[in-house]
Amino acid sequence: MLTIDGPSGAGKGTVSRMVASRLGWHYLDSGALYRAVGVAASWANLDLSDSAALVRCAFDTTVTFREQAGAEMRVIVNGVDATDELRLETTGAVASAIAAIPEVRSALKERQRAFRVAPGLVADGRDMGTVIFPDAPYKVFLTASAEERAERRYKQLKDKGVSVTIDGLLREILARDARDAQRTVAPLRPAEDAVLIDTTGLAIDAVVQRVLALVPTPVA
Ligand code: DC
Repeated sequence: MLTIDGPSGAGKGTVSRMVASRLGWHYLDSGALYRAVGVAASWANLDLSDSAALVRCAFDTTVTFREQAGAEMRVIVNGVDATDELRLETTGAVASAIAAIPEVRSALKERQRAFRVAPGLVADGRDMGTVIFPDAPYKVFLTASAEERAERRYKQLKDKGVSVTIDGLLREILARDARDAQRTVAPLRPAEDAVLIDTTGLAIDAVVQRVLALVPTPVA
């Protein structure tokens, strides 16, 4: 079991997926669960200040991850393929607001723990090593400067034809970091036994190598 936590844009998703595939382990994208609740809440036109309704929504929303060989994983929310909608910046902002509600976090706790099955799990999120899997033997905390994270996000969005500015993205990233780090329940922070890796200026492959070096793998 390996947990990979850190702020958005630190490269957690890509690194976690690559590490899981190299180890032959399962992968949990915990942010997708919060995003799924956010999407389901907007489909139901829920008011973001109505905590009770959001908590009910967290319990009622079904989320399934559909892995496809050679293609990206699809995320099915309440029976509907919501993969593209989940990735939107607006969905991330709603997820971050919903994730600050303690009962929403508890509603998703056991669901996340259920992913821990043989032969192993790479869990990516904000509180994987601190709250959900505190006994995980391997823990990583990935960071990168806010400027570099904004630039990476800018390139991704530009490639998709979305028009944004680096300054605007930087402001959003700083606001989301502050919200995720300052909330009272499960704030974003490294577990005491996590290995910190600053990915600023590092290529993805180099980060993957560093993470893999922490997990002893049986020699074939
Ligand atoms: O990793 P992500 O950007 O997909 O996550 C979206 C939001 O969900 C993020 O801003 C904070 C919240 N989140 C969380 O609170 N705890 C997690 N384990 C994962 C995500």
